[in-house]
Order: sequence, then structure tokens, then C-alpha cells
Amino acid sequence: MSWQATVVTLFPEMFPGPLGQSLAGRALENGVWSCRTEDLREHGLGRHRAVDDTPFGGGAGMVIRPDVADAALAATQADANIPCVYLTPRGRPLTQADVRRYAAGPGVMLLCGRFEGVDERFLQARGVEQVSIGDYVLSGGETAALVLLDACVRLLPGVMGSEQSGVEESFSDGLLEYPHYTRPAVWDGHEVPEVLLSGNHAAIAQWRQAKAEETTRERRPDLWSAWLARKNENRTAAVGGAAQADLRGLRRIPT
Ligand code: ADE
Repeated sequence: MSWQATVVTLFPEMFPGPLGQSLAGRALENGVWSCRTEDLREHGLGRHRAVDDTPFGGGAGMVIRPDVADAALAATQADANIPCVYLTPRGRPLTQADVRRYAAGPGVMLLCGRFEGVDERFLQARGVEQVSIGDYVLSGGETAALVLLDACVRLLPGVMGSEQSGVEESFSDGLLEYPHYTRPAVWDGHEVPEVLLSGNHAAIAQWRQAKAEETTRERRPDLWSAWLARKNENRTAAVGGAAQADLRGLRRIPT
């Protein structure tokens, strides 16, 4: 059974779009994953197939109607076990942990908004997860859906050439990745860090770890704090475990 992406959108022709190329495209051709779309417009109301209406309470923009969104969702006949995700800047930030969770399951059902958004009652009643791909506003959820799908598909078994590249990358252990260098060893007067040419694997690993930490500290103080907290937690647990082992040892001493 292939991993199933279903996308509810007003622009079905945007899919698979760039995901029809390269690694994801080959995996799509090989049946590793499938990409179906459901045209929201087909579930619109009246002669103009209206999918939206003005917001209760007033204000700018239009809101996608709950009955229209629900009819489109029902038409997909998506498996109830597949997470339903609405792409919106109001959502919680998408993380690599989410991506791993989606990729490990049977697939995802994605709802792409346009206009001001989707009626909240529909999202709540149907248990829709609300996810954002970053703190900026796109013109619609489609490009965000493509980002989410790209991140998931590359993790599907057999999609990436080297399994290792999936493990040793930014975010896999909460740090950004170390920098990379390739030939020529001197380019435009700039040299490659000497340690990388040394053949000393332990020294290289140590240098890469230090660079990953430095880069994360400088660029992502949020990730850095979380990483430090986790490290301290692990250390406390290890010390606690050792202390308990000592206690157990003490108890064995006959009094
Ligand atoms: N739709 C519009 N902007 C978005 C964002 N930042 N993330 C996800 N969906 C969006």
C-alpha cells in the first residue's frame, strides 16, 4: 500500500507540481506514494459554485463555508485514520517530529485555504489539525501543502538514496547541521577547514558537533535553549540513576 496524499484545494492543477520531479517524482511514478486532489469548487453552492461567504461579525475578506468544506472532505472518502491537516498561518508550527509522524502513517489529507480562512466550526467538529509552515503569510495553503508533502515523501522508505542522509541532518537531534565543503580544497583563495582533510575521524566528528552547536546557538536561540534543557535533563537522569545504583549498593552492605 502506497503512502496516500489527498489534497482539497481550489487549484488542483498545482499538484503534484514540483513534487512530480526529482526524488519525489520518481517515487510517485514508482507508486511509493500517490497524490489525489479534490476540487473544492465542485462542492460550491449555486450557479457560481460559491465556496465562501462574508465573515459573521464583519471585517475584510471571505471565509470558506463549513458545509462546502465538509462536502469536499466527505467526497475524498479518506481513511478515518489519516490525519486531516489545514494549512494556515494560525496553525502550530510544523516540525520535523510532525513530518516523521505523518510519514510513518498511511498518509495525510491536506486542506488548502484561500481568502481569510475556513469556518472554525468545521475545523473543530472534524478534528482538523491546524499547521503553519512559518511566520509569514502565503497567498494560499497550496504551496505550504507542497512543502509539507515534500518533507514527508523524502522520508518514505526507499525514496532517499542514502538512509544516512536522513539521520544526520538538521533537526534530527535538535541541532542545525554542521557546514559542508567539497573540492577544490582551495577555492577563490578560501581554504577548507584543515581538520576535514586530516583523515582523523574522531577529530572530524568533534569539529562537526562543535560547529552544529555554534550554528544553532547563533542562528536559532529557541532550538539552542531546548537542546541545552534536554542535555541537562539527560545529565540529571544519569546522575540520579548513578545515585540510585549507589543506594542499592549501600543497602546491600550488611549492618
Ligand atoms: N497559508 C498561508 N500562509 C501559510 C503559512 N505560513 N503556513 C501554512 N499555510 C499558510
